[in-house]
Parts: sequence; structure tokens; C-alpha cells
Amino acid sequence: MTDILGTMRRTHGCGDIDENLVGEDVILMGWVQKRRDHGGVIFIDFRDRSGMSQIVLNPEENPEAHEKAKDIRSEYVLGVKGRVVLRPADMVNDKIKTGKIEVMISEIKILNEAVTPPFPIEESVDVNENIRLKHRHIDLRRPHFQRNLIARHKAGLAIRNYLNNIGFLDIETPFLTKSTPEGARDYLVPSRVNQGHFYALPQSPQLFKQLLMMSGFDRYYQIVRCFRDEDLRADRQPEFTQIDLEMSFVGEEDVMAVGEGLVATVFKEILGIELKLPFDRLLFEDAMDRYGLDKPDLRFGMELKDVTQIVKGSGFKVFADVAAGGGMVKALNAKGCIDMSRKDIDDLTKFVSIYRAKGLAWIKVKENEWQSPIAKFFTDDEKKALAERIEMEPGDLVFFVADQIKVVNESLGNLRNHLAEKLGLISKNEFRFLWVTHFPLFEYDETDKRLQSPHHPFTAPAEEDYEKIDTEPLSVKSRAYDLVLNGTEIGGGSIRIHTKDLQIKILERLGLAKDEYEEKFGFLLSALESGAPPHGGMAFGFDRLMMILCGQPSIRDVIAFPKTQKASCLLTDAPSPVDRKQLDELALRVRIVEE
Ligand code: AMO
Ligand code: AMP
Repeated sequence: MTDILGTMRRTHGCGDIDENLVGEDVILMGWVQKRRDHGGVIFIDFRDRSGMSQIVLNPEENPEAHEKAKDIRSEYVLGVKGRVVLRPADMVNDKIKTGKIEVMISEIKILNEAVTPPFPIEESVDVNENIRLKHRHIDLRRPHFQRNLIARHKAGLAIRNYLNNIGFLDIETPFLTKSTPEGARDYLVPSRVNQGHFYALPQSPQLFKQLLMMSGFDRYYQIVRCFRDEDLRADRQPEFTQIDLEMSFVGEEDVMAVGEGLVATVFKEILGIELKLPFDRLLFEDAMDRYGLDKPDLRFGMELKDVTQIVKGSGFKVFADVAAGGGMVKALNAKGCIDMSRKDIDDLTKFVSIYRAKGLAWIKVKENEWQSPIAKFFTDDEKKALAERIEMEPGDLVFFVADQIKVVNESLGNLRNHLAEKLGLISKNEFRFLWVTHFPLFEYDETDKRLQSPHHPFTAPAEEDYEKIDTEPLSVKSRAYDLVLNGTEIGGGSIRIHTKDLQIKILERLGLAKDEYEEKFGFLLSALESGAPPHGGMAFGFDRLMMILCGQPSIRDVIAFPKTQKASCLLTDAPSPVDRKQLDELALRVRIVEE
């Protein structure tokens, strides 16, 4: 039998050779990054996942190999054999690991040709992302993807070792399953055998991991794909990966300690950074009050100040009316930004309108006066109180939003992040972790006019709040905790309900009738009365964690084959129509309903 490689078997990675190998023969396999013809001598930058080496074809030393190399183009796949030599002193490239040496080629095999790539395989290329996604297999050859995916592999391995060492078992859970409510829409899979019935792809393994606790596997983990049909953003994909874990006989502190240890292990492994443990903590209530968001970025200040009490009786009707109507007025002090132009302020007003703010009032603080369209409405006392509360100093620019609490917090919280980015206040090498705790157990859904769970309905209420479940549900705290890193939610979890009665009470409070919860969660309720231990856990967004670890702007940069904002895969063209025959087998008809 012959094969194209003949006796050629790779001895080294292109990026793994250095001056210690001088004088030795090596065999490399890889891709042509670039070919340069220097007056007869051909130089090739030769690349594989380990890095790059310069290989040299000299017509005088080896005319046959040199002749073959004449036809070589970028991205051809080659096998080469040659001797490692030191580069002449003036050719040394200190920027790369292999910059002191080169390989003098004695034998070359063209293993495959390649058409000209649609974009260069370089660190940064200025090419539309859709084109790169269509040619993802080529885009992934670029060094930053190679680094990111290798880092992701190493992180996964470190996580498995960490969890294994403290007694966690990796147990798989089904993908073809029943809906688990995590707040998004389900991806459905039609059943051929049970026509008209559908599986849901799991939004998370939540209920299965709880069942595993009830089966006695008291420390479970899984690095597992989850599926959610929701609006996509830079940090959201329709399928993404969780580092999912669950433990029995634990409270919040135990789960959080395991989570902190996990993150510390990964940071040490990938970045060589020792994180300071434990991480900071903030009550949900304080996070909302001071930052307007439940995932505050603590790398910069600019905290929000509630000024409702100060302005509620003021002559500025907008503020007074909002305060009278049960709304709120908050301020954000953009320190030293007095020179912002009208156009800048207009742009920021447009920015907050995304979050439904109806306006953005502002005050420029000068030495002895305020420049502002609203200054005239305030008395001297009100002015003094505002200046004190907002810590105004000459040179500051203060913004206000007056509205319902949700709108005020969302608009100013996001404005705070937006301004910090714009003003360059964010240090890129800083990692600020924060646990946000004591979330409300319920929130009120205005559209459906009913209570819903901000996390999921299996989260336990704080014991001291049990009595309020019936009387004041919106003031009941949950035993949930989220882990925030630099303003991104990288994980979350809770202590769970482990008794049937309490679980039923919560499901009822969420508006589910008996037949509904029996149909949806009967299996859980039955497990809860069969000896369910107290338990809790959490899940990290692996993609988000890797995005931040690798310093990338999007989780698409740490996922080999991601989807677009429209949830499609441009490489394979999924989703796509299916054959009539397949639909017939499933007993389905497609009818596109025109809007
Ligand atoms: P949660 O819904 O908060 O919790 O998800 C856990 C973490 O997963 C990440 N994440 C996502 N990452 C990328 N794309 C998405 N669409 C996406 N959605 C979520 C986030 C988030 O913090 N079962 C519970 C966990 C538990 O209670 O143990 C759950 O899934 O980083
Ligand atoms: P007006 O009196 O409507 O011209 O508004 C005066 C200033 O108040 C403008 O800068 C508006 O952007 C701002 N403004 C209007 N409505 C609100 C609101 N709900 N919250 C904060 N500022 C507002």
C-alpha cells in the first residue's frame, strides 16, 4: 500500500523548533503562510497550530526541492524534511519563538493545493464577519482563534481536574427532553415515533441535576451544551456551553466557595494570575440602587444617586410628576465632562431612549453657576441638596432620568457603562468579580399580568420570608446568587426547594394550575417526596468566561462554529428547509403564516 506521505512522519510542530535543534533533521507538516522568492532562494513561512517557522529552499543545495517549491502558493499543504540551522545574525526575528533558526529543506511533498483564500490568514483582518463565518474553517486558522480554542481546551481540562479532585462526578443528561423553564423559548424536536409530540432541547440540565441529587450522586458536574431560542447579542448564542454543577447537603457559602475555587483555578492555568478570594459581594438591592443593573461593572465608579426626595416638590414638572406617580429620579455624575457638546448630549439622549427613557436632563457645573435647561426650576435649597447628594464639583456634567424605577435603572445603568467605555475609564487588564445575592424570588410581568421567577421556579425562598409568599410575594428574597465579572454575568445558581409542598406553593404562586404543574413537573414533585436531600448548585457560562479570559469582545471568538445574530450557521446554511419525505415521516406540514 502506498500513501502520499511515504516515509514522511512529522517529528515536530512548526512552532516548536528552536536553537537547541540546530544541526538536526526535522520533518514538518503544515500550511504555507507566505512564499518569498529572493533571487533564487525561496523562503516560506510555514505554519501549523504550534506556530510558524521559516523554511528555506536553496537551488544550489537542492535543485529538485527548489523546483517543486516554485509552484507553491499560500495555504498549500506541505510535508517538508530539512536541517535546522541558525539564521544569519541580520536575519534574526526576535518577535517569534522560532526567529533565531530556519530549516534548510532537502525534501518537499505537496500534500494538497489550495485556492487563494478569501482573506489573509493573519492576526487581524479587516473583513466582514459574515464572510469570515461563511469560511469559518479558514478563519479558524488565524492565530487568535488557534490561541482561543487551545486556551478553551486547557481551561476545560483544568476545570475537570479541579472538580474531580473535590469529588464531583461527570454525569451526562439528555438532550431530547421536556421543557425546563429558564426564561427563553425552547428549541423543539418533532418525534417520528410519537407523531404530533415534541421533545424540547434543554435550556439547561436543571431538573436532571436536581434529580441526580435525589438519586444520591451528591456532587455532579457537566460541561454541557444548552439551547435557548432568544434574542442574540455579543454574549449570547442559541447553543452555548455551561459548566454545570450541583451539590447535596450544602448552603450558599459551600456552592460559592466551589465556584470561586473553579474560577481561581482557571485564571491560574490560563493567565497565570492568582485571584484574591473570596470575591466581593453585593445585595441585589444595593446593586440596583448604586449601579442600576444586577451585573455592575466595578472597574469604575460613577455610582447613581437617587434624588427623588430632593426634587419631588420642585418646579420642574417632569420630576415632580414622576415622583408623585410613584416613579423615581436618579442622577449620574460624569466627572469632569463639562466640555461635552450638545451633539454628544443628544447622542446620549438617543442612547437612553433605547431603554425607554423619555429624556435625559443635564446640568453642567461651573464655578459659580449651573448651565442647564432645568436649573431655573430649582430653589437654592434644592440646588444645595442636589449638589451635596451628587457630589457636584466644577467641571462635572450631571445627567438625570425620571421615570418608573425599572426604566430609570436600566437607562442610567447602561449609560454608566456606555460613558465609561467612551471616556476610557475601563482598565482592560483588571478582573473585578462580584457575587450578587438576595435576588427577589418573584418579579411582576406587566405583559402577562402575573408573577414570574427571575431565575427559575426551583429556587428556594429565604427561610425568613416564607410567610410573605402569600401576602407580599414581591418582597420575598430568594437564595439565588449570580457571579459577575467586569459587568458580565458569568454564572448563577441557587439553593433549591427540596420539599414537595413548598415547590407546589411556588408553582401555584406563579399561576400554574394543578393539572398544569402535574403535567409539566409531576416527575419532579414525585421525586421531591421520595427522599430529596437539601441541595443547591450553579452554572457558569463557559463561553462568556473564555471570552473574558481571552480578552475577546464576543463569545463568537471562543466558539469554533458559532451562529450569527439571526441564529444561522453561514458555513452549513442551517437552518434550512427539509424534504417533503422527512416531513411526511414526522406527519408534519409547513405552513408559513404571513404576518
Ligand atoms: P442561567 O440561566 O443563569 O442559569 O445560566 C447560567 C449561565 O449561562 C450563561 N448563559 C449564556 N451564555 C451564552 N449564551 C446564552 N444564550 C446564555 N444564557 C445563559 C450565563 C449564565 O450566567 N440552571 C441554571 C443554573 C443553576 O441554577 O444552577 C441556569 O441555567 O453566563
Ligand atoms: P422639556 O422641558 O421636555 O424640554 O425637557 C427639558 C429637559 O428635560 C430636556 O433635557 C429633556 O431631555 C429632559 N427630560 C424630559 N423628560 C425627562 C425625563 N423623564 N427624565 C429626565 N429628563 C427628562
